[in-house]
Amino acid sequence: MKFTEKEKLMTKVALVTGGTRGIGAAISKKLKSAGYTVAAVYQGNDKAAESFQKHTDIPIYKWDVSDFNSCKEGIARVTKDLGNIDILVNNAGITRDGVLHKMNHNNWEEVLRTNLFSCFNMCREVLEPMRTKGFGRIINISSINGQKGQFGQTNYSAAKAGIIGLTKALAQESALKGITVNAIAPGYINTEMTQDMSEPVLAKITEQIPMNRLGNPNEVANTVLFLASDDASFITGITLSINGGHYLG
Ligand code: CAA
Repeated sequence: MKFTEKEKLMTKVALVTGGTRGIGAAISKKLKSAGYTVAAVYQGNDKAAESFQKHTDIPIYKWDVSDFNSCKEGIARVTKDLGNIDILVNNAGITRDGVLHKMNHNNWEEVLRTNLFSCFNMCREVLEPMRTKGFGRIINISSINGQKGQFGQTNYSAAKAGIIGLTKALAQESALKGITVNAIAPGYINTEMTQDMSEPVLAKITEQIPMNRLGNPNEVANTVLFLASDDASFITGITLSINGGHYLG
């Protein structure tokens, strides 16, 4: 029996954290339309998640990715329902912006736990089956602000820079096992996260972008699709910037 390319991808399971809103929702939908079997993980917004599920038919799973045991239990559930995870997209992230001299410990810790510790929690669970299978794709969503730092984001910049370090180290550890590990560093993308910023601050930032516009979530999702594919099999440990020329480091 001969399978189409799309049918072949249906046997691959992709899990996207923060997968029901913003950039994550665009990634989940893009992977599904390419043929992957997708699971979208979310934590907070039930209403948005239910609407996402209704419109996309992508199964949703609710757990807190900042918590190690929740990830263990959650991944076990997804694996039971859909099979071992072949593609992990660590996308979940939050902001708690503010200058460090006024930042409380909670806002520091919450961002580090949700944006960075989550990558350890998730990778730790999916790696063993990937190593056994000899195939895996891990795609970590970092940020331009992890590359260049951002006024008012010491917590977020530290977490996103940490993701780049984790990516480079894990890529080396996984290279002989058929698993690639890459990061994407989006710039300012048109999502609720950027819409939460004050109008004048966002206008000032947009002025600094050579393309003079925010990015579109799909412009990030397209790159995830490429890095997940067989075409990207010799790419590992990189951080790919998608920022309209905003930072060329
Ligand atoms: N560089 C230098 N100085 C700056 C500055 C900057 N980029 N931004 C503000 N300042 C100065 C202001 O001019 C002001 O100085 P004066 O008191 O002398 O006038 C001082 O810092 C305080 O500024 P604010 O009044 O803005 O301070 P605030 O406490 O009200 O707000 C803030 C601080 C919340 C951090 C606000 O500056 C802000 O929202 N900054 C943007 C943070 C940001 O980029 N967030 C990105 C969210 S999207 C995202 O994270 C996705 C992604 O991956 C890209």
